[in-house]
Amino acid sequence: MADFVDLRSDTVTRPTSGMREVMAAAEVGDDVYGEDPTVNALEAEVAALFGHEAALFAPSGSMANQIALQLLVSPGNELLCDADAHVVTYEIGAAAAYGGISSRTWPAVGADIDPVAVAGMIRPDGYFAVPTRAIAVEQTHNRGGGGVIPLATLRELRRVADDAEVALHCDGARIWHAHVADGVPLVEYGRLFDTLSVCLSKGLGAPVGSLVVASAEKVERARLIRKRLGGGMRQAGILAAAGRYALAHHVDRLAEDHARAARLAEVVAPFGVLATGVRTNLVPLDLTKHTLDARSLAAAARVEGVLISVLGPRTARLVTHLDLDDADIDRAAAVLPRILSA
Ligand SMILES: Cc1ncc(COP(=O)(O)O)c(C=O)c1O
Repeated sequence: MADFVDLRSDTVTRPTSGMREVMAAAEVGDDVYGEDPTVNALEAEVAALFGHEAALFAPSGSMANQIALQLLVSPGNELLCDADAHVVTYEIGAAAAYGGISSRTWPAVGADIDPVAVAGMIRPDGYFAVPTRAIAVEQTHNRGGGGVIPLATLRELRRVADDAEVALHCDGARIWHAHVADGVPLVEYGRLFDTLSVCLSKGLGAPVGSLVVASAEKVERARLIRKRLGGGMRQAGILAAAGRYALAHHVDRLAEDHARAARLAEVVAPFGVLATGVRTNLVPLDLTKHTLDARSLAAAARVEGVLISVLGPRTARLVTHLDLDDADIDRAAAVLPRILSA
């Protein structure tokens, strides 16, 4: 939105002129026939980045997650994840509605997962209990303030999954941010999971697109599930070209978004409203001890040209992204303390 500093989400970015150029020039074909060369190139590229055999382009992160969950958990069986996970918070009951999947959650702890506690939740076959088939984690964690799950914790979870013979899924909508923040190679993350969903439209700046990353056998099945969900796209190379451009140009620069988020965290911290430490591009605000509630803060900020997200009565969020520069952050850094100190 013109004249606003839009800190609501990293999904609000618009394609850059360089990105639009490659979109316009993209070679395309019918991707439901498997004939779009740009989609095929993107899928091969992303599979290789994560050290997997194959990948499948999907229209959204939600669809990519749901395809992966259906690959791992058959109807009447169970998924374990945290209570704040995107898959159980913002996907409108899709795992149950479309996959017949039963979900059970551990308490919301963001990226601070205890693998021993997760192991204790796993239910094996027998005695008519719903058997656990998969565990899902989120890297970085959206409602967990952009927190990064440490590599050691993920390795421990892999051991837990292997011991129990259950699968491990990563909702990696912002896995790029974890890679940049912790310096962990994407291939390291890739080898720990049976399936990953990764987004090109959050932080990386593509207008549309996510991928399911997995073995060749799983991706073959994923193709059928995507079609069943209505996600088969035709000349999708126009979108895949944007994704390829985003991967080439917009991953390393995420460090700038992280630094800008850290700066925003610094200016709001003295008002006691920072919910957690800030590791990546999300700045979660907890207003339980402040006189302003989230709606009042957002309304006052809007009047001064700054847009923020309201996540609950007393929770809000600031997000940095590709369409913001230092001048925008300066503006927000002037406005927010003024409102919070009033
Ligand atoms: C962690 C996480 N997973 C999945 C999604 C879903 O992506 P989409 O909005 O493309 O469905 C989001 C969206 O913000 C997200 O934050």
